[in-house]
Amino acid sequence: NQDKFKKVLSHAKEYGYVFQSSEIYDGLQAVYDYGQNGAELKRNIREYWWRAMTQLNQDIVGIDAAIFMHPTTWKASGHVDAFNDPLIDNKDSKKRYRADVLVEDYAEKYRQKAEKEVAKAAKRFGDSFDADMYRETNPRVMGYLKKAQEPVERLARLLEAEDLAGVKALIEELGIADPETGSKNWTDVRQFNLMFGTKLGASADTATDLYLRPETAQGIFVNFLNVQKTGRMKIPFGIAQTGKAFRNEIVARQFIFRQREFEQMEMQYFVKPGTELEWFEVWKEKRMAWHKSLGIDEKLYRFHDHEKLAHYANAATDIEFDFPFGFKELEGIHSRTDFDLKAHEEHSGKKLQFFDHEENKNYVPYVIETSIGLDRMFLAVFSSALEDEQLEDGSERTVLKIPAVLAPVKAAILPLLKKDGLPEIAQEIIDDLKWSLKVQYDEKDAIGRRYRRQDAAGTPYCVTIDHDTKEDQAVTVRDRDSMTQERVAIKDLRNYLESRVSM
Ligand code: GAP
Repeated sequence: NQDKFKKVLSHAKEYGYVFQSSEIYDGLQAVYDYGQNGAELKRNIREYWWRAMTQLNQDIVGIDAAIFMHPTTWKASGHVDAFNDPLIDNKDSKKRYRADVLVEDYAEKYRQKAEKEVAKAAKRFGDSFDADMYRETNPRVMGYLKKAQEPVERLARLLEAEDLAGVKALIEELGIADPETGSKNWTDVRQFNLMFGTKLGASADTATDLYLRPETAQGIFVNFLNVQKTGRMKIPFGIAQTGKAFRNEIVARQFIFRQREFEQMEMQYFVKPGTELEWFEVWKEKRMAWHKSLGIDEKLYRFHDHEKLAHYANAATDIEFDFPFGFKELEGIHSRTDFDLKAHEEHSGKKLQFFDHEENKNYVPYVIETSIGLDRMFLAVFSSALEDEQLEDGSERTVLKIPAVLAPVKAAILPLLKKDGLPEIAQEIIDDLKWSLKVQYDEKDAIGRRYRRQDAAGTPYCVTIDHDTKEDQAVTVRDRDSMTQERVAIKDLRNYLESRVSM
């Protein structure tokens, strides 16, 4: 849905949520800055996740590891050898592409053809139409879906076998052309590591090569024993962390969905070997429940179980979200076995084990990982909140229905007029509320326009001080979503708001 996507981009900018980084210098590709409202929304999402992890679970604690880590970390984790994208250049246009993305886009065209057929049939058959059944039985739709699926599966096998010549042959066989110029004159495919390198130390000969972390998870693994011992943690237990991660993404489109600098919220749950698949199910449900607790339309979420697993995983699923450009990965839940801790044991020569008193033995725990991109969650919240609403009186309003607990500003405090002592009362109200809630004063323009402005900015409540306020010591509170208004005594206002907007 191109239009919706464009609307999301321009609204995010217009209301101080997301700016292109270094915009005055024409921006930096796939890097973004969060504005005055965006920074608050991001903090609130992070906090909502952090509390759900470390406060609602007695057996999960949080840490904050450094972005820089010892370089051997990335040998152990496999990132030095295997964190690559397969790149291909077009010889004529000199444009660079990710080979897997070219194949995926090819597949997507056939998927869309299939869905067009399904939509046509749905119109023909009306209410009794079963779309899933149609996909599985209609020859034309099945043909399209096969054309989508086969190349993707072949590509996965080729990449697994590191057969880069085979990847190039596949692209040629499918007749994939440069999306911008139509040329089919391709170079060989080569692997490109996604980690950003940097140097520690001043002089060229003694400086150490470092990487900016491509995921936060490794900071948790290398601290496993520190936390377990000092926190007297017993298996099963979890360690949570939020923080920046960096990847030199080549195909960087889709706004904040895929960035070079982004933030992750990850939790590793350490369990007894053999119990991991039970815990995997538990965490699948718990994470989906977290998403649902925000009240975002449940139809926008789905699980996508992985059939093909990474070599270290024995179960994996994604929580996908229906972004303006379709269902895409929002969060990953992986059963990572003892791969990471064992690898760090080998590379560091230190034991990373737990002594289980019940079993009376040492073992390397297995790990269930939940990993969500904060920026992707931001985009999910923001894009699903943005609505153009047709009102009963025929007019239209743009409203950003961000869940109240996440909204940047919780209430706008609006004196009806700039005189008669109303601004002073507004200020007293702000002085009372500001210790627990982020509120905003606005006295400019007619009250209706101020309401519209707050609707579009995502503020869940507007508090209006009018001439009756002096008589009845009460204010009018307007609800963003229902637009209903209620008279609330000033002395009850803080409770009224807190009970509706606090985490
Ligand atoms: N420790 C596991 C891990 O890093 P991942 O699937 O590579 O797994 C986890 O990343 C999550 O991080 C993704 O589900 C996504 O939400 C987010 N993410 C990954 N790359 C990103 C990028 N370039 N920009 C924004 N978010 C990204």
